[in-house]
Amino acid sequence: MSNRRTILITGGAGFIGSHVVRRFVTKYPTYRIVNLDALTYAGNLENLRDVEGELNHDFVRGDIRDAGEMVELFKEREISDVIHLAAESHVDRSISDPMAFVGTNVVGTANLLNAAREAWKNSFDGKRFYHISTDEVYGSLHHGGFFTEKTAYDPQSPYSASKAASDHFVRAYGNTYKLPFVISNCSNNYGSHQFPEKLIPLMINNIRSNKPLPIYGKGENVRDWLWVEDHASAIDAVFHHGKNGETYNIGGHNEWTNIDLVHLLCKVMDKKLGRAEGESAKLISYVTDRAGHDLRYAIDASKIERELGWKPSITFEQGLERTVDWYLANEPWLEHVTSGAYRSYYDAQYSKR
Ligand code: NAD
Ligand code: DAU
Repeated sequence: MSNRRTILITGGAGFIGSHVVRRFVTKYPTYRIVNLDALTYAGNLENLRDVEGELNHDFVRGDIRDAGEMVELFKEREISDVIHLAAESHVDRSISDPMAFVGTNVVGTANLLNAAREAWKNSFDGKRFYHISTDEVYGSLHHGGFFTEKTAYDPQSPYSASKAASDHFVRAYGNTYKLPFVISNCSNNYGSHQFPEKLIPLMINNIRSNKPLPIYGKGENVRDWLWVEDHASAIDAVFHHGKNGETYNIGGHNEWTNIDLVHLLCKVMDKKLGRAEGESAKLISYVTDRAGHDLRYAIDASKIERELGWKPSITFEQGLERTVDWYLANEPWLEHVTSGAYRSYYDAQYSKR
């Protein structure tokens, strides 16, 4: 792979995207990173403060739902590769507003595929379209087994259905037009800069403010957690060494029931906040379950480990401690993102449970 590339990273002001942009901008100074983001409620330029002035970082505010804008962008910036992360990403929001997920995740992805096909029509040599997807496309597991790259798709929420549809479009462009692509499907991420609508930052924010900790249903659902910087390192490995047309599952071999995870978080935060052990756990409050709540996700990551030599770099306990430290050291960030629109979302989401 040439060391002079112009990589379009979509969703680069969001949670995972900002970690990927930071990694690529700092680790690969010869690459030009075109960071395209619509700056929805989930996108925040504060996530990129440390790399905003870098010469190889070109931020563009734009919307992947706008087909014409995408065609223009590919032409103007002479894009050679895409790492596509922009999406509506929160399952609860997909339950209250499914069409927003069709617009961004399905139509937006198809717009990018079309723009790439048009811009690269003379030759696909040296080009790559890398689509970032989720383990949720495989549906819900019971108490045994793991998702492998061969597991049949069985999405259960409007979010996962929209991501599954986008994966199908990417493979269809690969099959029909020979567009060079690679896909990865990752498990639940956690770490710094995650919007506090997702489980871990929401709980950290509520523990620090002494607010109830809303556990959906009985708290028995299981997720497989991966530190976001380990996801960024996996994306780096797949981008550079993954084979065209292949899929790679990414996960942490790190399954937790929600209730056990929240108890661990309470314990870590009791220590950090100088509270007596068990004090934060008193905030736990069981609320109405998520509609159609998937029971368990668990990734078999042996393919990426075997073929690309990737594995997570830290344990969950280390990652969780770093994450809590980051949120406690960055209270202004939390205050900014939870002001205004977040408050209306929170009230609407949790008052009815
Ligand atoms: P996020 O919600 O934090 O960020 C999404 C970003 O996309 C935001 O910056 C937002 O402004 C931008 N965006 C949304 N709509 C857009 C549009 N129409 N045009 C341009 N930009 C738009 O999401 P995340 O958690 O960082 O997830 C990033 C990607 O990784 C998504 O594709 C998601 O499906 C996938 N993924 C996430 C996880 C996870 O645990 N968070 C796990 C596996 C895969
Ligand atoms: O598996 C990968 C997916 O992980 C990504 O594709 C999604 O973008 C990401 O949002 C995430 O989806 P989940 O639905 O698993 O994540 P969330 O943080 O919303 O919820 C994690 C678990 O915690 C889930 O079982 C629901 C539960 N939960 C969540 C919230 C927000 C609660 O019990 N209470 C809550 O308040």
